[in-house]
Amino acid sequence: MLTRRNLARIAGAAVIAFCAALPALAEPLVIKFSHVVAPDTPKGKGADKFKELAESYTNGAVKIEVYPNSQLYKDKEELEALQLGAVQMLAPSLAKFGPLGVQQFELFDLPYLMGSYDDLRKITDGEVGQSLLAKLEDKGIKGLAYWDNGFKIMSANSPLRTPDDFLGLKMRIQSSKILEAEMQALGAVPQVLAFSEVYQALQTGVVDGTENPPSNMYTQKMHEVQKHATLSNHGYLGYAVIVNKAFWEGLDPEIRADLEKAMKEATEYANSIAKQENDNALEAMKAAGTTEFHELSEDERAEWVEALRPVHEEMSDRIGPDLIKQAYAALGME
Ligand code: LMR
Repeated sequence: MLTRRNLARIAGAAVIAFCAALPALAEPLVIKFSHVVAPDTPKGKGADKFKELAESYTNGAVKIEVYPNSQLYKDKEELEALQLGAVQMLAPSLAKFGPLGVQQFELFDLPYLMGSYDDLRKITDGEVGQSLLAKLEDKGIKGLAYWDNGFKIMSANSPLRTPDDFLGLKMRIQSSKILEAEMQALGAVPQVLAFSEVYQALQTGVVDGTENPPSNMYTQKMHEVQKHATLSNHGYLGYAVIVNKAFWEGLDPEIRADLEKAMKEATEYANSIAKQENDNALEAMKAAGTTEFHELSEDERAEWVEALRPVHEEMSDRIGPDLIKQAYAALGME
């Protein structure tokens, strides 16, 4: 019977239930997005744009915490952290998926495979790119997008005009077997180091040189400790934005749709600024005057291509000859 006493009890219970629900309503869902580069890079700016859009589209129900510059984890650790669920989102370089057991991403490291961002789109937006992202699912990871950085230049403290100039140089590389083969093809000694360790390794002479797009070289101040650089554009460096699959699939579908929209727009943004960011970084390094930049003559470039192209054949089993063929076809090669 609905007595006054019962009504008061029900009202009291309702107030308690409402209050109990309040913290749940007020607490945003936190997504930790960890990366290893500076905020002022194509990837750093892409991550910040995603944060801005995601928080706005979800009306604050989701909070994106971006941790740049290896603040939380270095290269290898961040992949482990993602699988363990300690972070939810990363954008590792495509050269760093080998340790996850998806070494086919090293396709992107093949020297002189892609000559332009247009070429790149043919791979990332096409079947090759999408099939690579699908391979991550078995590893508990979902690939959401490809983000550009740019084409790599080689640097050292001695001039690097021809392949002979690399003989015996210790060159820092990312953890890709293709990059190892690339440096060996030049007669250099490759050394894998985490990105966060490169500046110091160059400064102290642990390694003599490295390769990276200008935006990474500039924002890590590598130009301060490298006297020479060659604008070889011999290879590409870019990213796959990835999330912990169980986390992503466990999201409320409406929230996930908002985040997908934010990711799509952040991807368009990141990819639209990448070339300009790299051009600006190169200009800034030229203005700094600590590094001499060398453009390859046609003859010199031909020598580089001749030295590096055999890496495609040599490493074909690691990537898969069929995948390489598919990439060549998408690019209109051979
Ligand atoms: C590197 O280690 O050189 C790059 O992968 C860093 C990055 O994420 O751009």
